[in-house]
Amino acid sequence: MVKICCIGAGYVGGPTMAVIAYKCPDIEVAVVDISVPRISAWNSDQLPIYEPGLDDVVKHCRCKNLFFSTDVEKHVFEADIVFVSVNTPTKTRGLGAGKAADLTYWESAARMIADVSKSDKIVVEKSTVPVKTAEAIEKILTHNSKGINYQILSNPEFLAEGTAIQDLFNPDRVLIGGRETPEGYKAVKALKDVYSHWVPEDRILTTNLWSAELSKLAANAFLAQRISSVNAMSALCEATGADVSQVAYAVGTDSRIGPKFLNASVGFGGSCFQKDILNLVYICECNGLPEVAEYWKQVIKINDYQKSRFVNRIVSSMFNTVANKKVAILGFAFKKDTGDTRETPAIDVCQGLLGDKAQLSIYDPQPMSPTTKKKVHCVWDAYEATKDAHAVCILTEWDEFKKLDFQRIYDNMQKPAFVFDGRNVVDANKLREIGFIVYSIGKPLDAWLKDLPAVA
Ligand code: UDX
Ligand code: UDX
Ligand code: ADP
Repeated sequence: MVKICCIGAGYVGGPTMAVIAYKCPDIEVAVVDISVPRISAWNSDQLPIYEPGLDDVVKHCRCKNLFFSTDVEKHVFEADIVFVSVNTPTKTRGLGAGKAADLTYWESAARMIADVSKSDKIVVEKSTVPVKTAEAIEKILTHNSKGINYQILSNPEFLAEGTAIQDLFNPDRVLIGGRETPEGYKAVKALKDVYSHWVPEDRILTTNLWSAELSKLAANAFLAQRISSVNAMSALCEATGADVSQVAYAVGTDSRIGPKFLNASVGFGGSCFQKDILNLVYICECNGLPEVAEYWKQVIKINDYQKSRFVNRIVSSMFNTVANKKVAILGFAFKKDTGDTRETPAIDVCQGLLGDKAQLSIYDPQPMSPTTKKKVHCVWDAYEATKDAHAVCILTEWDEFKKLDFQRIYDNMQKPAFVFDGRNVVDANKLREIGFIVYSIGKPLDAWLKDLPAVA
């Protein structure tokens, strides 16, 4: 029986391994983590991450061929294939601070693998890492190898949160990069055999190591760039009277462009886009390519601009002050169907409003982390959040916000009552009929907003 061990039981490692175990009953999968509470949660009824469909997959295989454990060394020792899916945050200090990826967790995982291994292993990079990380890892492993053979593969994960299980069941592609040597090809084939349990052959792409590593950064940069492009257009739409949804639809019907991922928003968030672009920028700079670095930096600058533009709209609409006004924040997660708030645009918007002394009342359908709760006032209900508020800001596109009783919300708010829709989820015209002043990203402006001085 092939044995797989995955180091890191996070948003990527957990769901990915659960699906491998589900689709490959002949493979034993162990997910290990140094965090005791995280592993206990994976072994309980309350999984540590919220992901539609995940519960069923985990319940189906847990304790059969899927195990969650803190005994990292035992499972690495026993495994044929070791996935490494540890966190790679942006460095906060030292060389490359603010841009480069922090590989501390990666390095310590690699050293531990070298320490405990007594048999040949395939080591798979799963977390997004800077290009050429595989080379560094290879060096750590081979310099400590005690005669053991290691093959390093890059197998970046393309799942998106909120749709992880769907993405894993039916991926656009699986990418496997390896050394172009006989041993390298053999290792690639071994990993391909795992995925071919359920992924059609033609969707399993094999490349060299560096292409696989760079493809992941490139894919995230292209995706983020689409959002910054449409968001940049949204500002121009507001200035000209065009409607960004109509423009995006018209642009997206060109088959060379495609219709997906063109929703204007308050800005992109999540643990990947900003981190990976910063990383890409750093790699470009290190390789003497400042023009290329500058090009990608612009994607982040527009994203920051979009968030501050939104805050400025709110403040300027409300007579240039939100001091001591209750403002309801609906949605805090970086997108719908996830409890994840890493790098969520809501953080910047809330900080902007707090800077202007607003009193925030936040509601998100998913429970908020204790740290967030400590800093802001969170409530369990959208009606509670909006009661006596001057304004409602929608920052996540949760489906339930579309079904809210806005008449009831309006009746309980201060007047004039404002709605700032950062995700274009509500029917603005219906809300206007009720009496709200409505701002929707990239849509023709209400007379109220039009008469205000332009914001930037
Ligand atoms: C373009 C638009 O495609 C068309 O929809 C619009 O109406 C007019 O402008 P055109 O300029 O005729 O059409 O040619 P196009 O095929 O778009 O190519 C433009 C340039 O981009 C060419 O120099 C082409 O070589 C280059 N190109 C195109 C690339 O370098 N790489 C590509 O992948 C595609
Ligand atoms: C992303 C990539 O999609 C995934 O392939 C990669 O593996 C990890 O990073 P994720 O961050 O989970 O996944 O979510 P995604 O759906 O890409 O959304 C990222 C951000 O962009 C969210 O804040 C979302 O609200 C925003 N977004 C997305 C828009 O503002 N408009 C869109 O049209 C799409
Ligand atoms: P991602 O979104 O990439 O999955 P997460 O932060 O959700 O990232 O998960 C990474 C996990 O890796 C965390 O649960 C962390 O405790 C774990 N981890 C980090 N370093 C190690 C290590 N050396 N050994 C085992 N687990 C580790």
